[in-house]
Amino acid sequence: MSATKKLFVKTYGCQMNMYDSDRMIDLLKPLGYKLSDVPDDADMIILNTCHIREKAEHKLYSDIGRLEPYKDAKAAKGEYMILAIAGCVAQAEGEEITRRKPCVDMVFGPQSYHKLPEMIAQAYRSLAANGKPAVLDVDFPVESKFDLLPMPSPDNHKGAAFLSIQEGCDKFCTFCVVPYTRGTEYSRPIDAIIKEAKHLVTLGVKEITLLGQNVTAFHGIGPDGKEWSMGRLLFAIAEIDGIERIRYTTSHPKDMHDELYAAHRDIPHLMPYFHLPIQAGSDAILKAMNRKHTADDYRRIVDKLRDIQPNIGMSSDFIVGFPGETDQDFEDTLQLVRDIGYVQAYSFKYSIRPGTPAALIEYQVNEDIKDSRLQILQELLREQQLAFNISRVGKPMTVLLEKEGRHPGQLIGRSPYLQSVHLDAPHRLLGQIVTVDIEGATQFSLAGKMVTQEHIHHT
Ligand code: 5AD
Ligand code: SF4
Repeated sequence: MSATKKLFVKTYGCQMNMYDSDRMIDLLKPLGYKLSDVPDDADMIILNTCHIREKAEHKLYSDIGRLEPYKDAKAAKGEYMILAIAGCVAQAEGEEITRRKPCVDMVFGPQSYHKLPEMIAQAYRSLAANGKPAVLDVDFPVESKFDLLPMPSPDNHKGAAFLSIQEGCDKFCTFCVVPYTRGTEYSRPIDAIIKEAKHLVTLGVKEITLLGQNVTAFHGIGPDGKEWSMGRLLFAIAEIDGIERIRYTTSHPKDMHDELYAAHRDIPHLMPYFHLPIQAGSDAILKAMNRKHTADDYRRIVDKLRDIQPNIGMSSDFIVGFPGETDQDFEDTLQLVRDIGYVQAYSFKYSIRPGTPAALIEYQVNEDIKDSRLQILQELLREQQLAFNISRVGKPMTVLLEKEGRHPGQLIGRSPYLQSVHLDAPHRLLGQIVTVDIEGATQFSLAGKMVTQEHIHHT
């Protein structure tokens, strides 16, 4: 179409947003947009936002402020920089964003970005007519988006790729905005997922992470016209030649099902790492959170997983300081963490999200208490993570080499447990899976020596 244009994209929040950003980049490529790592002189900036906690939202507004001078500098040259806000803040706040920050030109939610080329054309029309592009699109629902997106394009990956299979959530945990920003649960049809997975393999992808807010609730329509479970989908993905590692996230304890356990038992290249958020260890808090399970239900799930796949590593999400959380409730969370033993986990202070039921609970925990609880929990999780990493030293691990390290000749890859592994290896092995003898460990990464190049064949 037109001459090359510069595109700068910043992604906040979850892996789903990373997937969405890549799809937006793919959509804009045919229009002549080339990705740049810096915002200077960009023709278009997209901030793909996250609404999950207050902090993420604050960051967005301060980033918009920081980007304004770039926009002014471009304007001084007689050119226009389109500033677009995408993602969950866009969905939740809509026009409020342009009211608060008039330099913003476009606001669109996660369910509208497949219309990006059309929205950009509209923006330029409105720029020509009134000197200011103004596009707002925060429509639901999800149905047509995936059908209209192009297949992923080559230069986005290095051996590992995300594949979005499900979006939205019907669980309505009382603290969470996801059901409001991403909408009710939608599962893509099996055929479309398999087609995208096979396409990724042709691009050299060896590891696929199936993504969704609630993948365990997946119920996409299969080629037989019936709803398939997540477990059944995993078996189908496992049959695709060339996929050597499979992951999926995020799961909900309430949706665990027999076919999923069977997948963990029978699929050797389903990675032995399970991210299963519990949020809190106290049944009273779990109830107030509307989690629909108890702490013991969760313990039983983990026991069952460990029976089936003994080397499985558990990961989770925790919220401290949910309204009404007492010292004893918090102690129950610590006890649960001690009982389970995590290879890693994410933990957050409860953050009031307007419009969610928990925001209306009267007894909110004081900020200092939240701070100190978070520190105590994170210290315990840190100890567990470090202990797990140290336990790997002296053992071989398979590593998918994903990027160059800081030192010449060094590459960084990922272990089955998602740890970063640093090693010396030739550049040509990027995107390959190799075996590494682990020699050193810190809380966040491992280091080792390459043994051989691994070829995992599946039947
Ligand atoms: N406050 C703090 N953490 C939250 N999360 C979701 N909503 C909130 C909130 N209001 C956390 C949960 C969830 C993860 C993605 O973010 O732990 O699993
Ligand atoms: Fe949010 Fe709960 Fe749904 Fe997870 S399960 S996306 S925490 S509402």
